[in-house]
Amino acid sequence: MSRTAERNQAISEALGQVRSIEAEQGVTRKALEDIRDVMVGLATRAELFPEEDFPIPDDANGEWFDVLSVDDDGRFELYMEVANVHVTTPPHDHTTWAVVTGIRGLELNKIYEGDGGPKGEAPLKVDHEVAVKAGTGVCLMPDDFHSIHIEPGQINMHLHLYGLGFAHLKGRKMFDEATREYRSFDSLPS
Ligand SMILES: [Fe+2]
Repeated sequence: MSRTAERNQAISEALGQVRSIEAEQGVTRKALEDIRDVMVGLATRAELFPEEDFPIPDDANGEWFDVLSVDDDGRFELYMEVANVHVTTPPHDHTTWAVVTGIRGLELNKIYEGDGGPKGEAPLKVDHEVAVKAGTGVCLMPDDFHSIHIEPGQINMHLHLYGLGFAHLKGRKMFDEATREYRSFDSLPS
């Protein structure tokens, strides 16, 4: 079996388990932890995800997303994120659940408490941080806010799995640190 076929089979098997977990447990923190464990198992098979299979295009400014799988109805969208530059996002939600796991490198996730109010009158505060690297992952409920921080100097490869794909998400919010207010953040893969 080719590496690509082996990778696709491993992805298919992992997502089969993920669908079953969600169907049996619904969207709960415990379910997401179980989903995270499945995805950590996939991500730690780093030999299936070599750097040469996921090159960053020259015009991508050092960060690239590859869609590895998505159901016909937009559910269970799995991205590979590859980055070798400084990447940081503002705090944002997803309106769907998300699980991020590490293959190589480090993606620091800051998880925020509260939702800050509709206009950011109560600014978000960092509740805790999760260093997502090989063997670890982070779980996000649909209304959780997080931010992502990646440093240059190495290839960072992470699997991002979302309950619903970005093309289908509406009403996402990001917290703008400059204006201290929320604004729309739809359809961006982060
Ligand atoms: Fe995100």
